[in-house]
Amino acid sequence: SFMSEISEFRVLESQIKDKLQLEHVIIVSGNSDTQQSVKQDMGKACVQFLSSILTSNQTIAVTGGTSMAEVANQMKPLKHAANCTFVPARGGLGEQVENQANTICAQMAKKANGNYRMLYVPDPLSEETYHSIIEEPAIKDILEMIHETKIVLHSIGDAFTMAKRRKASEQVLNKLRSGNAVSEAFGYYLDEQGEVVYKVRTVGMQLEELEQAQYVIAVAGGSSKAKAIQSYFKQGKSNVLITDEAAAQELLKGS
Ligand code: G3H
Repeated sequence: SFMSEISEFRVLESQIKDKLQLEHVIIVSGNSDTQQSVKQDMGKACVQFLSSILTSNQTIAVTGGTSMAEVANQMKPLKHAANCTFVPARGGLGEQVENQANTICAQMAKKANGNYRMLYVPDPLSEETYHSIIEEPAIKDILEMIHETKIVLHSIGDAFTMAKRRKASEQVLNKLRSGNAVSEAFGYYLDEQGEVVYKVRTVGMQLEELEQAQYVIAVAGGSSKAKAIQSYFKQGKSNVLITDEAAAQELLKGS
C-alpha cells in the first residue's frame, strides 16, 4: 500500500506527527530549498496520497505557489477524477500567472482527467468590489462549491518571502513587521503563535472553514520553511503534511 512504500522516514514521520498533532505525515528525502527534484518528490507523494483518498463527485480546492505547481506537474490520471472538480481555494493573491491557483487547478484537472472551475476576481479587491462581487451569480455558484469542499491542497510559505514575491505594499509590509509575521497560507499571514497578523482581501475559503474539510493537505518543505510550518500548524486545521527531510529535522530542533 501507499504507506508501506515510504518507510525510510517512519520514525521521523511519527515524531512530526506527534509534534504537530497530525493524522498523516509523509516525508521525502533531501532539502527542497536546494534541490528541485525534492519538490517534485513532494508533488508525487501528494498525487499518490490524493489518489488513495479520492472518491467520486468530490470537489478539491487548491491554492497557488511553486509547491502546488509541482503537484500539478506530477499529476496523473486519477481513478475517480472524472466526476471530480478542482477549484481554486481563494481568489487572486498577487502571484504571477504560473503560480496562481486558477492556473494550477486547471492543469491539475487536465492531467487528472477531472473538471475544473475558475474564480475570476481581480486582486487586490477593494472593500466595495468585494461586497458586490460575492453577489454575482457565477461567483456565488463557485464560492458555494469552495465552501463545501472536503479536500483541500495547499502550501505554507515564509511570511516575508511571500509578501515580497507578491509585491506587497510598504503599508502591508509594515503590518507584517509590527505583527512579527512568520508564515503565510491561503493569503493569511500568521505570527509565531499562529495568530492572524494580516489577511489578503479576496473571495473564497476562510481559514475557519478548514475544520469542515475531511482532508486538508499541506505540501511544504525545505529547512527555510520550518518556522513557517510550525507557526501555521498553531492555527491551521490541516491534518496531513507532506514535507521533506530537511524541514522535518529543522522542525524537531525547535522547542
Ligand atoms: O501559501 C504559501 C505559498 O503559496 C507557498 O509558495 O510553494 O512557492 O513556497 P511556494
